[in-house]
Amino acid sequence: MAATLPVFMNEYKEVLEKELKKLIIGLQAPEVLKQAMDYSLQAGGKRIRPMLIFATLASFRKDPKIGLEAAAALEMIHTYSLIHDDLPSMDDDDLRRGQPTNHKVFGEAAAILAGDALLTYAFQVVAQSVCYSNEQKVTLIEWLAAAAGPEGMVAGQMADIEGETKELMLAELEYIHKNKTGRLLAYSVMAGALLAGAGENQLKHFQEYAFHIGLAFQIRDDILDIEGSEEKIGKRVGSDTVNHKSTYPSLLTMKGAKARLNEHADFAREALRQTNTESTLLFELVDLIVTRDQ
Ligand code: IPE
Ligand code: IPE
Ligand code: MG
Ligand code: MG
Ligand code: MG
Repeated sequence: MAATLPVFMNEYKEVLEKELKKLIIGLQAPEVLKQAMDYSLQAGGKRIRPMLIFATLASFRKDPKIGLEAAAALEMIHTYSLIHDDLPSMDDDDLRRGQPTNHKVFGEAAAILAGDALLTYAFQVVAQSVCYSNEQKVTLIEWLAAAAGPEGMVAGQMADIEGETKELMLAELEYIHKNKTGRLLAYSVMAGALLAGAGENQLKHFQEYAFHIGLAFQIRDDILDIEGSEEKIGKRVGSDTVNHKSTYPSLLTMKGAKARLNEHADFAREALRQTNTESTLLFELVDLIVTRDQ
């Protein structure tokens, strides 16, 4: 019988964390930079994005480890985005993954540089991979840059910051969530599907699945900023309120936000059915995203 999600996640979390450790140890770089990069990488994230790559590969009965380097690169970019998101000039947070934020430990300059380093090193890791064909590398790099850059995550972060000073419409908030969070989550699924050799039609359904879990993930994040436990989520509760962010609960009420979350989960499940794969783990990941309390 195929592994259930908790067993699968435990196994691949360890594999990923070893890979991340190895990739930092091998760097020829100033010690403090390596320490600052390693500090946030090893601080204990949920590793949802890597799990999406691994689980998508598993849904094609492929060895999830094929996705290891792509997953490490993605987790580096995600971690850089968190380091920068927490900076005083951004969300000004002092707790992340249950530990003091990077700039609280290493200072702002080193935190900015650790973020820069993780962002660029991610692309180096994919480009230098011995597991992927040149064609796969170019596609992975293009998709990752598009998801993380000025037409993706950075666009969402910019709109999120601009939105602090005004009342947003739901469509504007959806744009923010889709980009600041959705795009990297969507990339995770698409990278897994690409490496598994998915066909055009399957990619289309995976994209639909990925879009909906991406939005659901950030709606849950907004909910947890109000209802979550600081100990469990490992970051301060109430940060969005302090920063005057528009969020799903602030625009739709808590009840409305939860209804919207469930709608996106249903759309994701429907898209997954259309992929014609053995996607038990990906179904379980939808449930995890909807119900997570960390
Ligand atoms: C936090 O992401 C930032 C958002 C996009 C909401 P995660 O909730 O995946 O954070 P970690 O990686 O588990 O710390
Ligand atoms: C930002 O969203 C997600 C990125 C880092 C791109 P949030 O600002 O809501 O993330 P948290 O709540 O600080 O993790
Ligand atoms: Mg933010
Ligand atoms: Mg934040
Ligand atoms: Mg948040």
